[in-house]
Amino acid sequence: MSIIKFDMKSQLPRSFVLSNGVEMPSVGLGTYQMNEDELKLAIKVALDVGYRMFDTAANYKNEGFIGEILARELMERDMKRSDVFIITKLSPKDQGYDKTVDAMRKSASLLGGYIDLYLIHWPGVSKTDPSSAQNAVGRCESWLAMQDIYSEAAQTQSQSEREGTGTGTDTGTGTGAGIGTGIGKPLVRAIGVSNYHVVHLQALLADPALRVPPAVNQVELHPCYHPTDLRKFCTDAGVHLQAYSPLGRGNLLAPEFLRQFPEVRGMVREGGEGLACVYLKWALQNGFSVLPKSRDGDRIRGNIAMFDDGNGPPHGTSLSPDQMRLLDQVQNARLEKFCWDSQSVA
Ligand code: A2P
Repeated sequence: MSIIKFDMKSQLPRSFVLSNGVEMPSVGLGTYQMNEDELKLAIKVALDVGYRMFDTAANYKNEGFIGEILARELMERDMKRSDVFIITKLSPKDQGYDKTVDAMRKSASLLGGYIDLYLIHWPGVSKTDPSSAQNAVGRCESWLAMQDIYSEAAQTQSQSEREGTGTGTDTGTGTGAGIGTGIGKPLVRAIGVSNYHVVHLQALLADPALRVPPAVNQVELHPCYHPTDLRKFCTDAGVHLQAYSPLGRGNLLAPEFLRQFPEVRGMVREGGEGLACVYLKWALQNGFSVLPKSRDGDRIRGNIAMFDDGNGPPHGTSLSPDQMRLLDQVQNARLEKFCWDSQSVA
C-alpha cells in the first residue's frame, strides 16, 4: 500500500510516496506537443498556481526548452531545481543498454543535471514489428541500464548522506552526472515504465536480472479507460499508476460525452472547480497521480483548482463514494481509449 500525503483542506492526495521512498507530487503538467512559446506561458502560470511536477519525453523534443525555462523561472522565484519534480522518458529509438545510458545522460543534462523519474516510454523498439521478440530484448536491456544508473545514484545519495556532503540535487547546476562521470551526482531518483500492459509488467518483474522494480507505470487513465486487471496488478506489485490524458484528451469534457452521462455534469460544484477537476479528483481518489495537459493559462489554473488554498470552495471537496462509483462505472457503458495502444507489442 503506497503512502499518500493528503491536502488538509480538500482531503485529496497532494503527493504519493513511491516504492523507493521518493515523494512525488500528485499533479503535474503534461507537455506533449508544446512548443517553446507555449511552454514559456504554461510553465510560468503552472509554477504561479502551484504545479511542482512537469512531464516531458525525449520524443516530445522539448526537454531543452523545459530545462531552460524552468531554470529561469525558478531563479526568479528564488526556488531550487529540487523544488520541482521532472519526469522524462526514453525514446523507443534508444532502446538497448548503451543507447539508454547515453539518452539518460542527455536528458538529465537538459533538465538541470538530473531526472526525478525516468520512464521507458513504450514497450516496443522503434522500426520493429510489434510481434518481434526484439521488442522484449530491447526494453529488457534498457531496464538493465536504467537500474544500473539508478543503483549507482542511490548509492551515491546514501554515501553523501552518510558523509553529510549533500548530493548536488539541491543546486541543479550540474550537467549530466552519475554513472561513469565519477563526480558523484545522482542522475536519477526513480525509474519506471510507461504504456506497459500487465503482460509487459509481468515479464519485467519475472526477469532474473531485475534488481530494481519499476516505481511507476504511466498510462492513459480516465473514467472511460482504467483497466481493472492493470489496476489490480499494479496495486499488488507496488507500482504506482500515473494518469496521462486524464481528461481523455479533452473528450470527456465534450457536450457529446455529457449528453451520454448527464450525472457527471451534476458533480460540478457551483462556485467551485470546473468539470476537469471532477475527473482529476476521481483519479486522485483512486490513487493515481495526474498529468493534465493544457496550453491555456486559465485552464492550467483551473486544473489544479481542487487545491485552491485562497479562494477555493470550503472543506470536503473530494467526491462522494456514490460519485466515485458512478465514474468508475462509466467504462462499462463506454470503454474508450483516446491515445495509442501498446497491447500488440510482444
Ligand atoms: P488546451 O491546451 O487548449 O487547454 P489530456 O490532458 O486528457 O490529454 O487533455 C488535453 C486536452 O484537453 C488539450 O486539448 C487541452 O486543450 C484540453 N484541456 C485541458 N484542460 C482543459 C480544461 N480545463 N477545459 C477544457 N479543455 C481542457
